[in-house]
Amino acid sequence: MTTTSPLDLDYVRSQFPGLSRGWTYFDNAGGSQILKGALERINTFLIEKNVQIGGSYEVSQSAASALHEARTAAMHLVNASRPEEIVFGSSTTALLQNLARAMQSQLSVGDEIIVTVSDHESNIGPWDRLREGGVTLKFWLLNKESLTLDLADLASLMSERTKLVCVTHVSNILGSINPVREIADFVHARGAKICVDAVAYAPHRAVDVQAFNVDYYVFSLYKTYGPHYALMYGKYDLLLELDTLYHYFYGKDKVPGKLEPGNPNYELAYSTCGIVDYLTALGEQAGETGTVRRKIEAAFAAITVQENLLTERLLSYLRSRNDCRIVGQSANHEESRVPTIAFRFDGREARELCKAMDGENIAMRFGDFHSRRLAEYLELIDHGGMLRVSMVHYNTLEEIDRFTAALDRILSGGAGFAKAS
Ligand SMILES: Cc1ncc(COP(=O)(O)O)c(C=O)c1O
Repeated sequence: MTTTSPLDLDYVRSQFPGLSRGWTYFDNAGGSQILKGALERINTFLIEKNVQIGGSYEVSQSAASALHEARTAAMHLVNASRPEEIVFGSSTTALLQNLARAMQSQLSVGDEIIVTVSDHESNIGPWDRLREGGVTLKFWLLNKESLTLDLADLASLMSERTKLVCVTHVSNILGSINPVREIADFVHARGAKICVDAVAYAPHRAVDVQAFNVDYYVFSLYKTYGPHYALMYGKYDLLLELDTLYHYFYGKDKVPGKLEPGNPNYELAYSTCGIVDYLTALGEQAGETGTVRRKIEAAFAAITVQENLLTERLLSYLRSRNDCRIVGQSANHEESRVPTIAFRFDGREARELCKAMDGENIAMRFGDFHSRRLAEYLELIDHGGMLRVSMVHYNTLEEIDRFTAALDRILSGGAGFAKAS
């Protein structure tokens, strides 16, 4: 493993204004810090272009160009084949609820949808609600030994009535990367489509929807260095088949507008350009001189190296303690893990440990992280659930060392709270 970071961390951290406020942010899977460039795009839109699109006047055309620029940036970010394959929405939850609604006329009584027990509720609940219309929901369970989703288990669930398989790219608890291309091929070979929740993946690795061959792919910009907003990729032909969610005169061919009722939020969509600008700059710093897409890939290659260093530093500390259970793979074999790391300490309340960290200005989280079915399935809901440290590339080894030193102090009783019985 490389032992030095290829990133210029001073540059990286200078791009996130929130990082200079004295906090260590270890709750990035809850929400990352926003890029200066993303903020600037929001301001630029609101100050210079803040009118409705579709007018004949110059400012309205400039606003429409900004929205098109945003979709084009998102197209590069995920490697879609055209900007119209990008649907903006307020959150991943809302986009998946919209997708389920827009799919309704394609589904008949007795059709089947498969979801996984390891998904965030956002990619289960919307599909579960379709049971009201006669759709059957099946659960793809996790192998409790290996904590993996096994294709053999999926095979036994699929039938000729299976229309859709919904799966997370990375669980926001386990942190390991699911083999999405392999799953997509498996699902397609059996005549179904795949819908991927990539919220816990997109901040860490280059998304390539063409290489993954996914049908629908959704993630939140507020966890990928932008504001509270989200985007969904869909294969163009599949988006054409979806029902309109907008006015009746937005026909099936109005892609993606028919899936963005009331219009997207222009300024937040425009922030995507700032995210892509940043990744482009990182790619250039890594020596890439090719296309924007190549620069994004080079940026994430460098980000991965930095994240591997962080992952190993924290995992090796947790492994060294005999009172700690890591929830997920305890090693980062073949870079298969992102630095989203959940764990528990014997006989300790997750809430108490987390609250003790508040006093250290270390922001982290405890609970089930809305992946409640997984927490229940793994029997991890007592004692406040799990603690989670979720890092991204702007975090540093020094921050981890400060955290582990604080944890040592707290666990040895220095924080002055009683052990849970
Ligand atoms: C894996 C995962 N999926 C989906 C979501 C929901 O995203 P949003 O808040 O944009 O609806 C989250 C949020 O924590 C998440 O971690």
